[in-house]
Amino acid sequence: MQQHAGDFLRTLPQRKLVTICYSFAILAALLLWTHSSGYLGAPAEPEAIKVPPVVSPSDTTPIPPPAPLLPSWYIASLASCGNETHAETRKVWLEADARYAHLADDKFTIAIPTYKRPDVLNGTLAKLLNYKIPSLHEIVVIWNELDKAPPSGFVSKHGVAVRYRTSERNSLNNRLFPDPEYQTQAVLTHDDDVWYEHDDVEFVFQTWRQLGRYRLTGALPRCYSRNGKGMLQYHQCRDGSDWYALILTGLSFVHVSFLDYYWSDEAIPTRMRQHVDEAFNCEDLAMNYVASMLTCAGPLNVIGKHPYTNLDPKGGISKKGNHRTLRHNCLNVFEHIVGFLPLVHSMGSIKRGTPHFN
Ligand SMILES: *[C@@H]1O[C@H](CO)[C@@H](O)[C@H](O)[C@H]1NC(C)=O
Ligand SMILES: *[C@@H]1O[C@H](CO)[C@@H](O)[C@H](O)[C@H]1NC(C)=O
Repeated sequence: MQQHAGDFLRTLPQRKLVTICYSFAILAALLLWTHSSGYLGAPAEPEAIKVPPVVSPSDTTPIPPPAPLLPSWYIASLASCGNETHAETRKVWLEADARYAHLADDKFTIAIPTYKRPDVLNGTLAKLLNYKIPSLHEIVVIWNELDKAPPSGFVSKHGVAVRYRTSERNSLNNRLFPDPEYQTQAVLTHDDDVWYEHDDVEFVFQTWRQLGRYRLTGALPRCYSRNGKGMLQYHQCRDGSDWYALILTGLSFVHVSFLDYYWSDEAIPTRMRQHVDEAFNCEDLAMNYVASMLTCAGPLNVIGKHPYTNLDPKGGISKKGNHRTLRHNCLNVFEHIVGFLPLVHSMGSIKRGTPHFN
């Protein structure tokens, strides 16, 4: 009995141990089962958490799409700069530029070609001479009326010299002649029936000095496009468009080194001058091709505080019936002469008096 009782007592802790072990085993098995069978559910994925967006009542306008990139034709025109042949001929221009470095660059000359309309010329001269234009050094009238002697030169009440230069023959290239008597690097090529107001001329010159020294810088932007056959076409820039590729020399600052290159014996400008004489048109387009070919840059449109004046009287070259056809043709002929289209698009204009703060 004692023995039995002792056996029982000895074995009681062992029984408790066995019971506890079984209990743990059952609990572990139960946990394993519930987890693998998904009974407690899989842990939540981050995506599954959906927080409703916070929208304030006024914030209902849709987000606009990103602004378009600059158009590809604009980017493409910035890249046209020719090959080694053009780099060679560019050296001729750079040499000319160095030769003119001694000329004043804080004054400018106005060059006005005229042909048989003294009253129009006198009106324009009066506009330019009656007011003080601080940086205007000289006005050179390019006299293309070969059978009539020009008036004699004079000095205006504000000290501006007016000089008449008689041409050897009536050619539109004369307006772009690098007169060896020019005393300034800046030459404002100027039709006899177009002008900026006197205070605007000074502003445009100062803008030329700062931003446009080696760009045609003036008032008359023009555009081109290609038709379905790939032919270049010349036209006014469309209302509201912000780009242009040409500035007409009817009212444009031109650095004297461009004039020098234009009249040089280099093949490209020589063939251009020949075409200008054949067509009796397009010297302004030719100068745009020359300037952009030499610099790989586009022109600069400058808008004064007042609108510029363009009398455009009947009988001018631009009124002739075939004018537009000639202009289209010139763009294509000059492209052929240069070997590629050097015109570069500009998208910005400088406007005097634009408010900066609003
Ligand atoms: C224009 O001015 C010149 C002098 O500068 C003068 O000789 C000429 O008579 C004027 N012509 C007209 C049409 O006013
Ligand atoms: C450069 O371009 C011109 C015009 O397209 C071409 O006549 C000339 O052969 C070219 N020169 C070189 C070196 O590629």
